[in-house]
Amino acid sequence: MSLRVVVLISGRGSNLKAILETDDPLVDVCAVISNRANAKGLDYAHSCNIPTEVMDHKKFNTRFDFDAALWQLIDTYQPQLVVLAGFMRILSPEFVTHYQGHLINIHPSLLPAFKGLHTHERVLKAGVNIHGVSVHFVTAELDAGPVIIQAQIPVLPEDDPETLATRLLKEEHRIYPQAIHWIAEKRVQLVKQQVFLDGKPLSYVLPDNYPMGD
Ligand code: GRF
Repeated sequence: MSLRVVVLISGRGSNLKAILETDDPLVDVCAVISNRANAKGLDYAHSCNIPTEVMDHKKFNTRFDFDAALWQLIDTYQPQLVVLAGFMRILSPEFVTHYQGHLINIHPSLLPAFKGLHTHERVLKAGVNIHGVSVHFVTAELDAGPVIIQAQIPVLPEDDPETLATRLLKEEHRIYPQAIHWIAEKRVQLVKQQVFLDGKPLSYVLPDNYPMGD
């Protein structure tokens, strides 16, 4: 039986595309939900005949009201995994708790360094020579959840935020389908705040003297 996955997006959807193009027989993307009607990723989902939904956060009075409506919509698809792929909303603790251990995100930095937005700019400003991307379980603290997989790339002297983002995106498109595949194979467990792969604790060490990007 394949893993039922709902993907949440807000925009371009290149990670969604990478997940769908992988065409993993263990993974069944049963719906794509966006909080923005004009999210490009919705077009790609349509072209793959995947059900899409739009839930506009601006139509709700509070974050909690939106989140509660969102999880009710998601749950109609009975997913085993919810994948945030460029979903530009901070989720309430109630939402995160509802999907504890079944909610993952991709963040363009070597977590726990450079949480938050504009990571490429901040990495360049910090003058580090390594950048990276992390797939992690989502916990109540923003971008703080335990990491499932990371990839690193060198920062080149000629890099600007766009070149860095473009090179990093290639790694995103490789590691997100990989993480989902591991979960589909039931090789990944989250126990308390520790991720295990094949029963062994995973830990990712930051490069020496790496700044946290605060
Ligand atoms: C990616 O850079 C991802 O790391 C971040 O948001 C961006 C989404 O891009 N969370 P896309 O919509 O998947 O192309």
